[in-house]
Amino acid sequence: MIKTLYLNNFRNYRSLELKVDHPVNLFIGRNGQGKTNILEAIFFVSMLRSFRTLQIRELKMIGQKDFSVGAEVTNPNGWNELLKIGCSDNKRKLTIDGKTVPKASEFIKRLRTVVFSPDDIAIVNGNSAIRRRFFDFLISMMEPDYLISMQSYSIALKSRNILLKRHSQDYALLLAYETILAREGALITAFRDEYSRILMDSMKNLLANFYDKSGGFRIKYHPLMSSFSEDSFLERFEQERERDIRRGFSTFGPQTDEFDFFLNHKLMRHFGSNGQCRLVALCLKMASVEILSMKENTADIVVLVDDVTGDLDPVVKKIFFQKINKAGQIFFTFTESPNDEFFKDSSVFQVNDGTVEGAI
Ligand SMILES: Nc1ncnc2c1ncn2[C@@H]1O[C@H](COP(=O)(O)OP(=O)(O)OP(=O)(O)O)[C@@H](O)[C@H]1O
Ligand SMILES: [Mg+2]
Repeated sequence: MIKTLYLNNFRNYRSLELKVDHPVNLFIGRNGQGKTNILEAIFFVSMLRSFRTLQIRELKMIGQKDFSVGAEVTNPNGWNELLKIGCSDNKRKLTIDGKTVPKASEFIKRLRTVVFSPDDIAIVNGNSAIRRRFFDFLISMMEPDYLISMQSYSIALKSRNILLKRHSQDYALLLAYETILAREGALITAFRDEYSRILMDSMKNLLANFYDKSGGFRIKYHPLMSSFSEDSFLERFEQERERDIRRGFSTFGPQTDEFDFFLNHKLMRHFGSNGQCRLVALCLKMASVEILSMKENTADIVVLVDDVTGDLDPVVKKIFFQKINKAGQIFFTFTESPNDEFFKDSSVFQVNDGTVEGAI
C-alpha cells in the first residue's frame, strides 16, 4: 500500500507531498487541473513507465531541468520503504531508502498496478504495439523472468539493428546477438502463449455477465513461430539474416507478434462496434486485476481508475466495483463527486491547478 506520495517538477506539480494511506482515494477537480497526472505519477513509481506516453521527458515540468517521484510504501513484512525515481538530463536514478538500485526489475516488484483509462479501447481496436504493451505489462507483473527476458531481448535487438542498418557483414557478432534473441525470444513467446490462454478464460467468465454468448470471445496469439524452442528461433534468425542485412533491420521476432481478439467470430479491431470494443477493453483490465489477484499477496495490487465509471451502465458498474475491490488500494479521478455507495468511506482530495487540498 502507498502511504505517501512525493512529486517534484512532475507535469504541473512543482512540489507535492500527499498522504494517501487510505484503501480508496478520490481525486476531484475540473478539467486540466492535474488529476490524471497524479495517477500517472503512481503508475510511474510502480512500473517505471507512463501509461500516457513513451517519452519519459514529457513527465518533467516544462522549463525545469529534472524531476522526481517518490512513494512511501508498506512492504509485505509491514515495514515502510521509500521508493524514489530521480530523472536528471534524461538519466534515471532509482533508490530505495536512499540506496541506489541498479536493476529496474528489483525496483518494480513492490507494487503491481493496473490502470483503467478511456484510452484502453485502443488495446482492442488500435495497432498491435498497443496490444503487445498490454500483455507485456500483465506478464511482467506475474513473471519476473519475463521482464528480465524482455530487457535482454530489447538490448540485443537494438544492437543487432545497429549492425544491420550499416549492412554489416560481421557474422560472428550477428550470431552472438541472435543467440541472445533466440534464447529470450523463445521464453517471451512461450509466456505470451500461456497468458493469452489465461486471459481468454478469465475474459469468458467476465463477459458471460454481459453477453449471452460470451463463448463468442476468443484471443488468438500469432507468434511468427509455431515451435517455441530456442533452436528453432536460432535457425529462423539465421535464415532471415541475409534478408535482414539487405533491409537494414530485424524483420523477425516477438516485436512483430499480434494478438487477435474475436467477438462472435468477428475480428474486433476491424468489425467491433465502439460499445463492444469499450466493454471488452474494460474487461481486459478487470481480468488483469483478477489474474494478478491469483498470486498470494493482493495487498500490493494498486488500481488506478481515470475518468472511467461515469458512463458505465449499472450492471457493468456493479461488476466493475466487485472486481477492482480485490486490489489493496484504489485511486479514482472525477470531475464531480460520485454518489455511489462504493465511495462512502473513501478519502477525497480536491485538485486545483497543480495543487491538492489536504497535501502536507
Ligand atoms: N510536462 C508538463 N509541464 C507542465 N505542465 C504540464 C505538463 N504536462 C501536462 N501539463 C499540464 O497538466 C495539466 C493536465 O493535467 P491532467 O492531465 O492531470 O488533467 P486532469 O485534471 O486529469 O484533466 P481532465 O479532467 O481534462 O482529464 C494541463 O494543464 C497541462 O498543461
Ligand atoms: Mg484526466
